[in-house]
Amino acid sequence: MYDIVTLQAHILQQQARYPDATGTFSWILSAISISAKMIAAQVRRARLEDVLGSAGEQNVQGEQQQKLDVIANEILLRLLGGREGVAIVASEENEEPVILRAQNDGETRYCVLFDPLDGSSNLDICGSVGTIFSILRKDQSSTVAEDSLLQPGLKQVAAGYVLYGSSTVLVLTIGSGVDMFVLDPSIGAFVRVAQGLTIPLRNKCYSLNEGNRLTLPQGYQNYLDWAQRSGYSSRYVGAMVGDVHRIMLQGGVFLYPPTKKAPNGKLRLMYEANPMAMLVEQAGGKALVGPGQRILELQPEGIHQRTCVVLGSSEEVDHVMAHVAG
Ligand code: AHG
Ligand code: MN
Ligand code: MN
Repeated sequence: MYDIVTLQAHILQQQARYPDATGTFSWILSAISISAKMIAAQVRRARLEDVLGSAGEQNVQGEQQQKLDVIANEILLRLLGGREGVAIVASEENEEPVILRAQNDGETRYCVLFDPLDGSSNLDICGSVGTIFSILRKDQSSTVAEDSLLQPGLKQVAAGYVLYGSSTVLVLTIGSGVDMFVLDPSIGAFVRVAQGLTIPLRNKCYSLNEGNRLTLPQGYQNYLDWAQRSGYSSRYVGAMVGDVHRIMLQGGVFLYPPTKKAPNGKLRLMYEANPMAMLVEQAGGKALVGPGQRILELQPEGIHQRTCVVLGSSEEVDHVMAHVAG
C-alpha cells in the first residue's frame, strides 16, 4: 500500500525542495486541481443536467464546440484568473490568449495553456475525456503575450493531464519524474497512487485512427504493415488523454501522423503535444515529430499550431521511425 498523500500535500512537499519558492506556482497547481474536480463533477452529471451536445458554435479550429467544452473552459479561466501568479492563459477554445497580468513588476508569473476538454466528442457516448495543461514561465522582459507563450516545450515548468474515465486521474510532472493521483470522490481529494511512473520499454500495441490509413505518408503505412505482420494489437480511444494514459501504464505507441484532411497533423502543439511529450519523456519514453526530431524542441509559431505526433514506449517509437525514415 502507498502512504496517503493528497495532491495538496504533494505540492507542498515539492515546494519545500526549493527554499526560495514563494508558493505562487503551488497556487496555480491548486487552481488546476480544483478545476479538475469541478469539471469531473460536470462530466459525471452531464446527461442529468442536459449539457451534452453542441454549443452551436465552432471554435478557432473550425471544430464544433460541445456545451461541456465551453463549461470546462470557463471553469479553468475563472479559477486560474483568480491566481495572482498567472500572467496569461491560452486555451483551445479561445482564439486569442487571455492576458490577465502583463506588468513586469519583478514578480515571477506563469502562462498556463490548456485543452479544457480533450476528446469531447466522446461525451455523448459516456466515453473517456480529459483536460491537458502546460505551464511556462512568463518572459519578464516583455509585455508581448507571444514572447511568453511561443516557447519550445523544453521550457515547460510543468505539464499534466486529467482523465475523466471510470475514475478521475491526474498525472503531473514538474520536471522531475511523473506522479499519478486518483480523485477520491468521497473526500473530494486527489490522492497520490504512484510516484516516478515509467513507461514500459516495449509493448506490441499501436494507437491511431486507422480510418486514415490510405492517406498516411507511405512510411506510416509500411509501419502498419510491419506491425500487423508482427502480431501487434490496436487500441484507440479517440481522446488523446485516454490513449496516452494507457500507454503511460502499459506501453505502446500513439500516433497522429499527417493525413489528407490534416496535412500538418491534427493535434495542437502547445496544449496537446508539448505537455504529453514532457510527461512521456519524464517517464522514460520518446515523443517525436519525425526521425530524430523531438516535439519538445519545436519552435512554435502560433498558439494553435498543429503537429505530427509519435509518442510512447522508447522501442515502439523507434520501430515507427525506422519505417518513416526508410
Ligand atoms: P479535442 O476534443 O480537444 O478537439 O481533441 C480531439 C483530438 C484528440 O483527443 C484525439 O486523439 C483526436 O482528436 C482524435 O481525432 P480523430 O477523430 O481524427 O481520430
Ligand atoms: Mn484535444
Ligand atoms: Mn478540446
